[in-house]
Amino acid sequence: MGTQLTITACLLISSISILVACTQKTSDESSSSGNSDSAVAAKMQYGGYKSQVKWGEHLVQICACNDCHTPKTMGPQGPELDMSLMLSGHPSKMPPPPVDRKIAETKGIASTQTLTGWVGPWGISYAANLTPDESGLGNWTEPQFLKCIREGKWKGLDSTRQLLPPMPWQAYKFMSDDELKAIFAYLKSIPAVNNVVPQAQPPVQR
Ligand code: HEC
Repeated sequence: MGTQLTITACLLISSISILVACTQKTSDESSSSGNSDSAVAAKMQYGGYKSQVKWGEHLVQICACNDCHTPKTMGPQGPELDMSLMLSGHPSKMPPPPVDRKIAETKGIASTQTLTGWVGPWGISYAANLTPDESGLGNWTEPQFLKCIREGKWKGLDSTRQLLPPMPWQAYKFMSDDELKAIFAYLKSIPAVNNVVPQAQPPVQR
């Protein structure tokens, strides 16, 4: 009787360990093929992209940040992005659009051919340096970036002025926290470009 019990117990234990071994094998196989639940969840977390930085890059591309924040060279069809200066803002030595400011500020809007410097009813604005250099977003924190885009606050600080046109923060403020954080992570990962963008100017007296 005693021997029988021992044999039954041994059989039970060995079948449990076979079961455990089988289960382990299944989960190993699925993770090596990249389809485990955790791999899928990680992808979903980044909008279908494999990392937060990759998702941020995608968002920056489709939101056209380069249109205003990347200087241009002139090609046969007009301005082309100068990716060696990617997202580094209005070049420090480039003058504002050469227009009569009184006329431009009352009758229309003018921009440099790089689309980085603008004259309008608000005065003159220059697209900011978004690279991780100290002259760009190098010293910014993530909460500053979120405040800047959500509330249109220059430098993302409470005490500062409202952002000027044509920065479309009124559209971008509808991004989710995760989207804004992905953009910030991407901007922190791109090559730093040293470029002190000129100060914005108030409108001329009329
Ligand atoms: C249509 C042109 C335009 C587009 C598109 C644009 N920006 Fe801007 N952006 C500007 C201008 C001009 C300024 C400067 C505004 C000012 O001085 O008040 C600015 C300012 C900023 C600032 C504030 C910098 C500071 O020092 O406070 C941030 C951050 C910024 N943009 C991020 C972005 C991001 C990210 C995108 C894309 C998701 C983007 N911008 C798209 C024109 C643009």
